[in-house]
Amino acid sequence: MDINKIQNLKNQAISSILEAKSDRELEELRIAFLGRKGEITQLLKKIPSLNSSERKEMGQIANDVKRAVEQALADAKKAEAVKKIDIDKEWLDVTAPGKKPPLGHIHLVTETIKEITEIFTKIGFTRVAYPEVEWDWYSFGRLNMPANHPARDEWETLYIDKLKHKKYGRSVLTPHTSSGQVREMEKRKLPIRMLNIAKCYRRQSNVSHAPMFYQFETLVVDKGINVTHLKGTLDYFAQQYFGKDQKTRIRPFHFQFTEPSFEVDVTCTVCGGKGCQVCKGGWLELGGAGMVHPLVLKHGGIDPEKYSGFASGFGVERVLMMRHKIPDIRLLFGGDLRFLNQF
Ligand code: PHE
Repeated sequence: MDINKIQNLKNQAISSILEAKSDRELEELRIAFLGRKGEITQLLKKIPSLNSSERKEMGQIANDVKRAVEQALADAKKAEAVKKIDIDKEWLDVTAPGKKPPLGHIHLVTETIKEITEIFTKIGFTRVAYPEVEWDWYSFGRLNMPANHPARDEWETLYIDKLKHKKYGRSVLTPHTSSGQVREMEKRKLPIRMLNIAKCYRRQSNVSHAPMFYQFETLVVDKGINVTHLKGTLDYFAQQYFGKDQKTRIRPFHFQFTEPSFEVDVTCTVCGGKGCQVCKGGWLELGGAGMVHPLVLKHGGIDPEKYSGFASGFGVERVLMMRHKIPDIRLLFGGDLRFLNQF
């Protein structure tokens, strides 16, 4: 078999295709070269009978020729189709306005996180972020929650199997944003005005609790910080987020990492404080707060004789559900556009 002959065949095929003037001529050429009895097809048929050293080389060349001719035919067919377009009928108005793709909007939870961040950064807080997979050292141990504390129970906290550390213990999905407290103190930058907003995880699921939710945590450490600073910050937040007539109240409570500890309530957003079916005597519960426990300050390398601080931790979904009167937290994570498009 002669390589030159094959190349000639290819050139001949392609130049005839380029000269063809109609679909019919192109079809005739296809049959002449690539049809069952076509010249290229005949050539390919001879290849199996060549000796093995020739077979490989010729096979490759003949297949390349076949592919090139097929491509030339396809291109020529396309060019013929373009020629047939009736410009007068198929004109394109390039000045016509485009079709708008459907545009989404920022999710209510993301929007609330943005708003909370603005409220607190206005009075000098700095937003921070800490690991979503956290050591129990920071989540519990350094916060005075010893190994047998119920918050550490497997039915409450989600553990990561296998990931363990000699000093830091087991690893967990962050159960609360308070795990950022000691991490923040370890930065060794005083005074502290921290705003930690993060995903938290707990084994829970009902109308007001989801296994994944967001918390926002404040931590202030400075000289001379006392409960009035905490109360003032809580009132400021309530008025900025819920409205200017809102008040907060603090009730004694217990957390291992604050002393004294409080639960924080805000004027009921449904009845405005008069008392109704939704609230407890005009108040709705916001979350926890307190004065940072001296031992926690020590764990963070801060001298509790010189410095004091407050902390608070609330649920992002909780405050937004209170403001927008959303009855079920699962609506926020369901992705139902009929719900989401209301906001
Ligand atoms: N971490 C606590 C919780 O998740 C809330 C809290 C934060 C309490 C800061 C006191 C101080 O319930």
